[in-house]
Amino acid sequence: MTNEGVDLDKRRFLTQAAVVIGAVGTGAMAVPFISSMKPSAKAEALGAPVDVDISKIEPGQMIRVLWRGKPVWILHRTPNSLAILPTLEDQLRDPKSKQSEQPKTATNEYRSIKPEIFVAIGICTHLGCSPVYRPEIAPPDLGPDWKGGFFCPCHGSRFDLAGRVYKSVPAPTNLVVPPYYYASDTRIVIGLTSGEE
Ligand code: FES
Repeated sequence: MTNEGVDLDKRRFLTQAAVVIGAVGTGAMAVPFISSMKPSAKAEALGAPVDVDISKIEPGQMIRVLWRGKPVWILHRTPNSLAILPTLEDQLRDPKSKQSEQPKTATNEYRSIKPEIFVAIGICTHLGCSPVYRPEIAPPDLGPDWKGGFFCPCHGSRFDLAGRVYKSVPAPTNLVVPPYYYASDTRIVIGLTSGEE
């Protein structure tokens, strides 16, 4: 398939994914899995970087890609969710991510290169389950203090929308942010911190 063909497929998939998300509404969010962006099995085994078009990810939407066999989330955070992050610090175990893993380019209050786009490995730092994206504010099942984040159904760990873990839950550290960089305004490459490597 040509690159152009791949791009068309990606665009079509993202458009369909946005429709699915719109139909789901609030509650546990369905996260589209962008299988067309998977590297080949051989490339994946070698840890090949994954190039992702982020231009169609709407505010509030999250997609998932595979890198080194792991799910990587790419979330387009809304202005409201960004505004909430600084208000959560006293409830978090490692609000400045001093004990947590992320590239230098994402070592900041948003744990990301650009504030609105959050990239993280979607694996709980407790025992490896996959947390669920729950962007709603105070849904009945998560309680009035829930400000949007990621909830791990296995043992109840909670993370905010920067992947920072709350106090008093089993997960010891924040979600891992993988190496990535912007190849352009609309494309990120997961697996490297610059195009020079
Ligand atoms: S694996 Fe997520 S809380 Fe245990």
